[in-house]
Amino acid sequence: MRAMMKTTVKAVAVLAMTTSLAKASDVEVLHWWTSGGEAAAVGVLKDNLAAGGTGWVDMPVAGGGGEAAMTALRARVTAGDAPTAVQMLGFDILDWAGEGALADLTATATAEGWDKVVPAALQQFSTSDGKWVAAPVNVHSTNWVWINKAALDATGLAAPTTWEELVAVLDKMKENGITPLGHGGQPWQEATVFDGIVLSLGGDFYKSAFVDLDPAALGGEQMAEAFNRLITLRSYVDDNFSGRDWNLASAMVINGEAGMQMMGDWAKGEFLKAGKVPGTDFVCIRFPGTQGSVTFNSDQFAMFNQTDAGKQEAQVNMAKAIMDPAFQSAFNVVKGSVPARTDVSNEAFDDCGKKGMADLAEANTNGALYGSMAHGHAAPASVKNATYDVITAAFNGEYADGAAAAAALAEAVAAAQ
Ligand code: BGC
Repeated sequence: MRAMMKTTVKAVAVLAMTTSLAKASDVEVLHWWTSGGEAAAVGVLKDNLAAGGTGWVDMPVAGGGGEAAMTALRARVTAGDAPTAVQMLGFDILDWAGEGALADLTATATAEGWDKVVPAALQQFSTSDGKWVAAPVNVHSTNWVWINKAALDATGLAAPTTWEELVAVLDKMKENGITPLGHGGQPWQEATVFDGIVLSLGGDFYKSAFVDLDPAALGGEQMAEAFNRLITLRSYVDDNFSGRDWNLASAMVINGEAGMQMMGDWAKGEFLKAGKVPGTDFVCIRFPGTQGSVTFNSDQFAMFNQTDAGKQEAQVNMAKAIMDPAFQSAFNVVKGSVPARTDVSNEAFDDCGKKGMADLAEANTNGALYGSMAHGHAAPASVKNATYDVITAAFNGEYADGAAAAAALAEAVAAAQ
């Protein structure tokens, strides 16, 4: 707690300093894109804004999944000094809109026809009370596995498509003397892995448990099985996993120190930044058993109410720049995600990006597109945080078995609502 407070105080001090340097035509952007691949994507956004005459005041708050960024945001708003634009996920956007803190982007959205090109699953979080309150920059998904190609080839096995095949590959990698699973022990990372495991037990089950929050699904036999699988995965990580940042776990796979990482497609940004090529150096697959379904999250930029006309104009400029189709292509090629508009060509994307776009469209058509619990698109933050606690405790062996963890999950989610 104290460490968290220290980080927040430091972040707020940095933010306060950057604020005073801002011009009216600048946007101050609070985000958590601090890894190598993420920073490269920020560069694309910054350059795009600069080309339109909008300056950038950077307010990075490190921490994958954005928990620390959201804490820093709350401090800024409480101090009466909201940043201009904020990277935000799903239910957090709706919470802030409900507080009346967000600028209304409807005039811009209507003039530019956003409602015709942004999928309904995203609009659910970009709009509140019939008004546009955020501009979506991408669609990420969490049910991915990133595998070092040489390490996979060394197993003599094919890329796994079922849980049993996955375990066989992990066992073989262990025999071959590498860490099978590159993982960072942070609650949001374990929750990201768990999105994939729960989805692999069925889309209907995922929806009942994580979207509908049905107590029977949360505490039942399938959830017990999901936790047993999570507990099994714990046996494939190295001794130093605790607290490791996600991008360092990606680096282990990139370097061949680890065999694979179960992570959202922001991980691809790290592989690309390291000069790695899909199909040659690494393989991207859907979490075994989840091909055809997608658990998504979308980074959106919400604009906080400002009284200064110059700042308001800068917000509109930023929103327009984000929604520009050419930008959506250029940005997402680097970020690892796919465009938030349905009218952007897949031409510039690598094979994993093309697969990501095709998978998303297919899941959307088939009713198999679900919001990610780990990344704030299945349930509000209070519920999400309750799942983090139980998932991490289960990963760390704090329950006798999967059934005990499932019972704890049902209880924690009930208490959080
Ligand atoms: C965001 C990504 C980000 C990742 C790791 C996710 O919640 O949607 O944009 O790269 O966290 O920081």
